[in-house]
Amino acid sequence: TTQRTLILLKPDAVQRRLVGEITARFERKGLRLAGLKLVQVSRELAEKHYAVHKGKPFYESLLTFLTSGPTVALVWEGREAVAVCRTLMGMTDGAKSPPGTIRGDFALSVQNNLVHGSDSLENAAIEIALWFKDEELVNFAATD
Ligand code: CMP
Repeated sequence: TTQRTLILLKPDAVQRRLVGEITARFERKGLRLAGLKLVQVSRELAEKHYAVHKGKPFYESLLTFLTSGPTVALVWEGREAVAVCRTLMGMTDGAKSPPGTIRGDFALSVQNNLVHGSDSLENAAIEIALWFKDEELVNFAATD
């Protein structure tokens, strides 16, 4: 079934000039771009996005990281988009991610792992609504 998912290219991806390289991987997989913007993330948005991690030892550091520079927010649409994007990204820890994945090819860190992707269809809907207004998303024809 067709799904939408939220992908963030975090500040390390922008700073390292990997926006094109990473975006190309989602594109060439066949996913459709339904939303795209460059965001200077506020502390408030970062707290909402990472609310599930509040209280964890890495929480404050994670907020500092996400607000440290511009982030690219993307919405990708396509068949099984949530799982497909997570497969393309690799595991959370870059050091444990296999070659061929985004993190496996370009990340060695756990925190500075270049990308975020929604982990379920339910969270995808919540995260898309947090990062995008309805009118910022494109509606494609079903056959596109
Ligand atoms: P993300 O997929 O965006 O979801 C939560 C983020 O927290 C994760 O990517 C990492 O950037 C970060 N993270 C997860 N676990 C750790 C950890 N053990 N130490 C530091 N950062 C972490």
